[in-house]
Amino acid sequence: MEIKTAVFAGSFVSQAQFPKDHLPEIALVGRSNVGKSSLINCLANRKALAKTSSRPGKTRTLNFYKVNNKFYFVDLPGYGFARVSKQQKEKWGKMIEDYLQKRNNLVGVIMIVDIRHLPSEDDILMYEWLKYYGIKTAVVATKADKISRGKQLKNFEEIKKALGFHRDDYGAIVSSTSRQGKNELLKIIEKLLET
Ligand code: GTP
Ligand code: MG
Repeated sequence: MEIKTAVFAGSFVSQAQFPKDHLPEIALVGRSNVGKSSLINCLANRKALAKTSSRPGKTRTLNFYKVNNKFYFVDLPGYGFARVSKQQKEKWGKMIEDYLQKRNNLVGVIMIVDIRHLPSEDDILMYEWLKYYGIKTAVVATKADKISRGKQLKNFEEIKKALGFHRDDYGAIVSSTSRQGKNELLKIIEKLLET
């Protein structure tokens, strides 16, 4: 698959506002600052379609991007960001959980982790949660440009082990900076859209 068009379709906070055209949706989840929004830009060959920031907590709403007039990427707020109030965390948590649990158009989740680190407790909980709800997942380790190729493979194996990676899920190593793994991930997205 090649992404030919990608259009911002809106920022929403609840079901009532979501698009009503019944296109399939692929959501991106992961810790704050892990590189979710950057990955959307990389896949879509765009510099600033999704807003990114070196400071965590940039994405605060569910942001929909319509791709090839065929499906949506849904960029979700990151979890595990320490410098927000408990109340704010609960609000975001509920927004994310509601979306993942209730959205019929959701066909798969891209769960992004940092290739340099073992998954956090939040990552492990998120993956277990996705599996409990039977959501098809691609575990994607990003920022691969920051370590050597040899270390990438080793780290990814350790990440998968720590998560309890399901064999029928997808996995990929990527970098939004070097574009490593981009085509592999596009193929995975195609598979998610088929099911
Ligand atoms: P929130 O919206 O706060 O949850 O963050 P996010 O997950 O959307 O992260 P974002 O895409 O805004 O990126 C966070 C920071 O990581 C930015 O400074 C990016 O430039 C950087 N970054 C993202 N992906 C990569 C990557 O593959 N390699 C490198 N070197 N830096 C990256
Ligand atoms: Mg973001």
